[in-house]
Amino acid sequence: MPAYAILGAQWGDEGKGKVVDFLARRADIVARFAGGNNAGHTVINDQGHFSLHQVPSGIFWPQTLSVMGSGVVVNPDPLLEEIESLKERGIDVDGRLLVSQRAHMIMPYHVAIDQLSEAAKGNKAIGTTGRGIGPAYADKASRNGLRMADLLDLKTLEPRLAEALEHANALITKVYGGGPLAFKTVLAQCREWSERIGPYIGPVEHELHEKLNQGGVVVLEGAQGALLDLDHGTYPFVTSSNPTIGGACVGLGLHPSQITGVIGVFKAYCTRVGAGPFPTELTGDTGERIRQLAQEFGTTTGRARRVGWFDAVMARYSGRLNGYTSNVLTRLDVLDSFDSIKVCTAYELDGEIINEPPGGEAALERCKPIYEEHSGWDKPTASATEYDQLPPQAVSYVSRLQELIGSPIDIISTGPRREEAITVRPIV
Ligand code: IMP
Repeated sequence: MPAYAILGAQWGDEGKGKVVDFLARRADIVARFAGGNNAGHTVINDQGHFSLHQVPSGIFWPQTLSVMGSGVVVNPDPLLEEIESLKERGIDVDGRLLVSQRAHMIMPYHVAIDQLSEAAKGNKAIGTTGRGIGPAYADKASRNGLRMADLLDLKTLEPRLAEALEHANALITKVYGGGPLAFKTVLAQCREWSERIGPYIGPVEHELHEKLNQGGVVVLEGAQGALLDLDHGTYPFVTSSNPTIGGACVGLGLHPSQITGVIGVFKAYCTRVGAGPFPTELTGDTGERIRQLAQEFGTTTGRARRVGWFDAVMARYSGRLNGYTSNVLTRLDVLDSFDSIKVCTAYELDGEIINEPPGGEAALERCKPIYEEHSGWDKPTASATEYDQLPPQAVSYVSRLQELIGSPIDIISTGPRREEAITVRPIV
């Protein structure tokens, strides 16, 4: 019963969509376990170029069931739009997508509160995606949330919605000075969702256990990345869920012994979107060059991503959180034209050398990266599909990253397309 988790090992945007699409060819189920439409997973394959926000990246393989677990927060309107747009492009979705009854909904008032609260924070804003993620998880934790199962039982939903909306409207109007949302309008939306999204709601956790018991292959698709984890990331500049391996168990009702492989996805450098500490950030020309070469602009919000050198302090920390059995290194080709490439191996904090990130935000902001320098390569790695096509300097860079991460790099991605990858050792 193999279940493989594919996890973002940095601050998100590591290229998980491509990796899931690539590895899902042998999967019976691909399951999203955390996050919502703050994610943006790019998949480029024979069927076209796709940006997925909520639908799991397994949707492109005909034998695969795509599921969204209890740990996900679902915004029904954009999910329906995503489903329609996939159908218009010839992708079969009906009967192949299942959303957990236990998943919470992102309601219109969550989106409003997210945007109002960010605006109120001014220059202290987190830089969220503005999709209502934080407020939806906050309502879940304070037990005011509405779940997908409630859409199947509108009689129960109605009084609970009234109570939740009263609370949300008080926050919107009294704290943020915004306009209240009308109960009638939100209820009408729920009725429509009930009809249109009802057929996709089902017993996700049961399906997963059945498939695993039958010896099926399940791929757990992470969103965001370890360093954005609510508990272990660079708090408060994090998302509101756990994109780490613990979140995969909780968000799908699996137990740890069912997970046979944990695959970390690392970019060959680092990026981060939104505010928060980023010790290896490159604010000058080199950063801009990487940003332009790699087109580092958000799939969800279009924002320019911050760019920096590979941070092995964070990589080791992320490995400790997730226990990677295998890793995928993406976007190696982006570094093809550099004479020299740096890797941060430790931080200097107030005159001391440290090897793991401090827990406090202010201390992490004061950390200065200590770099080792690698020479660039004279021959491109772009589109390479065999390890021996890589120039020796690139081999040496990858080997050094592997040593610093502390677990094997089994796949190296050398371009955006499905086939542009080197399989050093098959993982699934
Ligand atoms: P939220 O998840 O929209 O609340 O945003 C919280 C933080 O996580 C912000 O810094 C976002 O930029 C970041 N974030 C959320 N989702 C992603 C993602 O898919 N990729 C990269 N950063 C993300």
